[in-house]
Amino acid sequence: MDLFIDSADVNAIETRAASGLIDGVTTNPSLIAKSGQPFHDTVVKICNIVGGPVSAEVIATEHDAMLAQGRELAALHEHIVVKLPMTIAGLATCKALTKDGIKTNVTLCFSAVQGLLAAKAGATYVSPFIGRVDDIGLAGMELIHDMRQVFDNYAFDTKILAASIRHTEHVLQAAMAGADAATIPVAVFDKLLNHPLTDQGLEAFLADWKSAGLT
Ligand code: E4P
Repeated sequence: MDLFIDSADVNAIETRAASGLIDGVTTNPSLIAKSGQPFHDTVVKICNIVGGPVSAEVIATEHDAMLAQGRELAALHEHIVVKLPMTIAGLATCKALTKDGIKTNVTLCFSAVQGLLAAKAGATYVSPFIGRVDDIGLAGMELIHDMRQVFDNYAFDTKILAASIRHTEHVLQAAMAGADAATIPVAVFDKLLNHPLTDQGLEAFLADWKSAGLT
């Protein structure tokens, strides 16, 4: 399973990428706005740090403008994946960019049938938003299970990128449901590694080593 960081914070991404465990990054307009940094510079910096797919989202809502923005974003760096909203214009743009050999990520996916449409449009990735579905009282993870089955039934190449991840259990459940990748906020990524018993265990090992006078 590929692990992506869901952030536009260049420093935070750089620190986590040093682990060698980060396969890619997703950004969105809200994350870029939060970073307070220029859009294009930021995504290029991120591309150079991670050396893997970096999703950068179009802002246009009409097909022609989306296509122009998508091509402009793709020209910034070979690792750019053009992120498009789950709309008719977004799907038509996905199809056109795919034909050009440009990688795409159809975002704001809240149902498995939307996922089916993204796959039909030739999307490289589709992003089901697990946490936001949970937020409205439904079972977000069902999206992953259902999309996995649909994609496998028809051998679609589109990768399921579990998004809107809120906690480590989401990462585990997405992995068990067969998501190809998960995009994870920095705070959740850090928690994947941490366990109090690991800290206690390491402390005890080192203390025993020291008290035995070993070097
Ligand atoms: C994914 O590509 C999105 O940027 C992200 O996962 C949205 O997450 P949120 O629901 O926490 O905003």
